[in-house]
Amino acid sequence: MIEQDYRDVLKTLSEGSVSRRFDPYLDIAWDSPEFALEPDDPRWTLPEDSDPLGAHPWYQALPQERKTAIGRWRVANIQKVGLQFESILIRGMMQYAMRLPNGSPEFRYCLHEMTEECNHIQMFQELVNRTGADVPGMRAAYRATSPLWGLSAFIPTVFFIGILAGEEPIDHFQKRVIREGTDAPPAVLRTMEIHIAEEARHISFAHRFLHERVARQNRAGRLATSIVLPLVMRWLAGAIMAPPRRFAKEFDIPDSVMREAFWHSPTSRAIMRDYFGDVRMLAHDLKLMNPVARVVWRMCHIDGRPSRFRGEPHRTARRAAA
Ligand SMILES: [Fe+2]
Ligand SMILES: [Fe+2]
Repeated sequence: MIEQDYRDVLKTLSEGSVSRRFDPYLDIAWDSPEFALEPDDPRWTLPEDSDPLGAHPWYQALPQERKTAIGRWRVANIQKVGLQFESILIRGMMQYAMRLPNGSPEFRYCLHEMTEECNHIQMFQELVNRTGADVPGMRAAYRATSPLWGLSAFIPTVFFIGILAGEEPIDHFQKRVIREGTDAPPAVLRTMEIHIAEEARHISFAHRFLHERVARQNRAGRLATSIVLPLVMRWLAGAIMAPPRRFAKEFDIPDSVMREAFWHSPTSRAIMRDYFGDVRMLAHDLKLMNPVARVVWRMCHIDGRPSRFRGEPHRTARRAAA
């Protein structure tokens, strides 16, 4: 039985999807000179405090030309990973939605969300194509197994934790780039702005969905959820933010640098920790921060202060670098 309050949230989100929506080909002036993506644009340089490789002294000591080349490839690859993740989300969410009963308000919103994700896939693929970098996206093993990940939708709580684990790091990273006025190519910034605007609804839905589900769980179910939550967050953050092996080979990046940047140095760990302030807040709200869960969060190196409000900027990465 769906509570009236949850119905109201779904209605507001659905109406928001109708009244405030973007089209990748109407709302981005791809062919304007300002949006041209030049391979030698120094604005491809990776940001120092939101990108774990950009934060690494090895990268910072490179000549500008190399910084630009590596940055362009990495930025393009992150977009590619993002769209691959969105395609997994759509496949799983379709499985979930098509099992809902007639009249379900979740059905309508899920379909709005999938429509938006289709638009995001087109938007990010257009961006990738225009960078000219032939990037693979996720690591090969992840790409090979990703068609099966959507089957987790048969356990909806786990599937929605997975959705959040993909959306939160990308959203956090993009918000930080926009908020700090990072000097990136304008077409990249425009896609990020559009994405942030629509992801706000998706993330609200995932948070609220988990509230509904966890409230109905018994003690054993809640304990299992509290442990699965940090594990999935850590696993998917790695899958999304760490580049495939080809990247290190193509740009002769030493193994030690890759290891430190993904995720052994204090700075890179702090960057990852910062991705999950909102999820830690959610875990507290859902009473999923029990002593066992705390140990798992710590073992995954994503423990820390919960956000006080959604989207609160965290600054631990900058402190770790200082
Ligand atoms: Fe998206
Ligand atoms: Fe999304």
